[in-house]
Parts: sequence; structure tokens; C-alpha cells
Amino acid sequence: MRILVTGGAGFIGSNLAHTLQEKGHEIVVLDNFSSGSFRNLVEFRGDVVAGGCDNRPAGHFDIVSHQASITDTTVTDQLAMMRNNVEGFRTVLSWAAAWKARVVWASSAAVYGNLPAPMRESMKPSPLNVYGYSKLAMEHLAWRWHQETKLPIVGLRYFNVYGSGEGHKGKFASMIYQLAQQMKKGQRPRIFHDGGQRRDFVWIGDVLAANLLAMQAQGCHVCNVGSGKAESFNSVIAELNKVLKTQLHPDYFPNPYDFFQKHTEADISLARTALGYAPEVGLAEGIGHYHASGAL
Ligand SMILES: NC(=O)c1ccc[n+]([C@@H]2O[C@H](COP(=O)([O-])OP(=O)(O)OC[C@H]3O[C@@H](n4cnc5c(N)ncnc54)[C@H](O)[C@@H]3O)[C@@H](O)[C@H]2O)c1
Repeated sequence: MRILVTGGAGFIGSNLAHTLQEKGHEIVVLDNFSSGSFRNLVEFRGDVVAGGCDNRPAGHFDIVSHQASITDTTVTDQLAMMRNNVEGFRTVLSWAAAWKARVVWASSAAVYGNLPAPMRESMKPSPLNVYGYSKLAMEHLAWRWHQETKLPIVGLRYFNVYGSGEGHKGKFASMIYQLAQQMKKGQRPRIFHDGGQRRDFVWIGDVLAANLLAMQAQGCHVCNVGSGKAESFNSVIAELNKVLKTQLHPDYFPNPYDFFQKHTEADISLARTALGYAPEVGLAEGIGHYHASGAL
């Protein structure tokens, strides 16, 4: 199949581009390199179209994997966020309709804001920043597009994805990556008091599996993609100490933010029934894989 991966220079998009290429599909990456990195594409042999989501790549596509997005969640310029994320998606959906292509795209757990865990798709969304709101607006757009075109479309609300290819994201990389970088320099890992904050960290391999399943689904869905289990920052540090062979204790400091998520956790029952999603890799194993890959 011929598959367009938008945001293909980014963390998740580049992993998808490689995985799909290995399966024998013809992949075209579209990226404006606003946050992604060429380093993620060094081993990619397909075509790379450099441009935004208003640069329609030539030819026909069977599947569109739309990962492109502003991923700096601290951007407060509402028009810039909405133009890039929502209007970009609207344009990509118009191409997909013309191609009669199915679409799998990246939503986010940010649509839940600070709702109580476990987070379920039936909850009333409560985004707390324009990034989360843009994803919610994209979900509404996806439902309308499906009603008009009847083509399959699946939005995946990713939780905290970690794995090889996220290094370019800096302070927006997973806490697993960021804490590991501090520890590798021999520094004590810095976290907010008292390290009991819990996150649903999901291994990139499980996210790729969710995407492959979503590419075969019928109808229109929006599903959580997490591990289904929350782990504390203290547990992350304990696992990192094991793989890095260090004994660094957390350096706790007071939380400077008024708003901070204490606990995120995906209820993955909808993804299980709608897609057949079954995450396989827990925190210890995922950190082990990550370290073994040499990218941590
Ligand atoms: N990584 C996570 O934990 C996580 C969690 C929730 C949601 N998501 C979503 O998953 C998707 C991929 O995220 P990521 O972690 O790989 O981030 P990333 O920043 O590495 O990748 C995003 C890519 O999109 C590109 N891009 C941005 N705007 C574009 C545009 N208008 N046209 C073309 N390319 C554009 C960037 O250059 C970048 O390569 C995003 O939609 C993000 O919102 C990620």
C-alpha cells in the first residue's frame, strides 16, 4: 500500500514510517521540520516531502497516518496552534477524501486535562490548554468527515509515549528520557516533591501496534492508547537506576505550578474492543528495551 505519514520526522511518525516501510509498504513522509529532526529519517529510504499540511504530495494514497502537530504544549498563541493543528488536519482530510483513503491520526490524553483517573472516552473532555483543545476540535472534525465520506477514521488519544526517536523533543520528551539524561551525567534526578505523581507511560512498540490495528478498523473511533497502568516518577527512577547501574536518589523540589497532573491512567477497554489493542510492554521491560536500543 501507499501510505502518507505526516509528521514523519517526529518521534512517533518516524517510528511509524520505518515500521511500515519494513512491512513492504511505500511510504511518503510529509514534515515541515518545525519540531522533528532529520536524524530520525537517516535510515528511511522513502520520499520525504518537506512542507506543511498545505503541501499535497503527488499521487494517490491508500492510508493517511496523520501525526503532524505542534507538540510544544506550552504554546499559548491560540491562532497559531489552531491553524497548524486543526486547519492542517482539515486540509489533510480533504486530500484523504479525494483519495478515498482511510485515516489514522494522533489525538492526545491532553483532551482530559485534570480529570480523575482512569480516563475514559465517555468522560466530558476538559482540556486545560489550547494544545488539548486543538485535539478535541480535531476529534469533532474527524466525526463530521466520517459522516460525510463514510471512510474509516481512527483517532488515538496517546498517553505518555516513550522510546527511541524522542531525543529531539528536549523538555517535551518523556520524563523517562529526561530523567535518564540527568542520571547519565551522574546528577541526581530532579522531580517535584514527593515523586508520587503517576503517569501512564506507554512503550512506542505498543503505540505502533495500536496504529497498525487502527489501519484495519472500520467506522469512526477515538480511543485511548496507554499502557492501562500508572507508574510513579519514583518507580521510573528505580528502573533507570537498574539499567544505568547507578544508585542516584531523587532530588525533590517544590512544585512551582498551580496546575499539575497528579495521576494519568488510560482506561483501554474501548481500544481493546474496537481495535483489539493489547499493550504488551510494562515499565521495567520498556525501559530495558529502551536502554538496550542505545537511544536512552
Ligand atoms: N509523544 C507523546 O507522548 C504524545 C502524546 C500525546 C499525543 N501525541 C501526538 O502524537 C503526534 C506525534 O507526536 P511526537 O511525540 O512524535 O512529536 P514530534 O514533535 O516529535 O512530532 C511532530 C512532527 O510534526 C511535524 N509538524 C508539526 N506541524 C506540522 C505541519 N503543519 N506540517 C507538517 N509537519 C508538521 C513536526 O516537525 C514534527 O516532526 C502529535 O500529533 C502529538 O500531538 C504525542
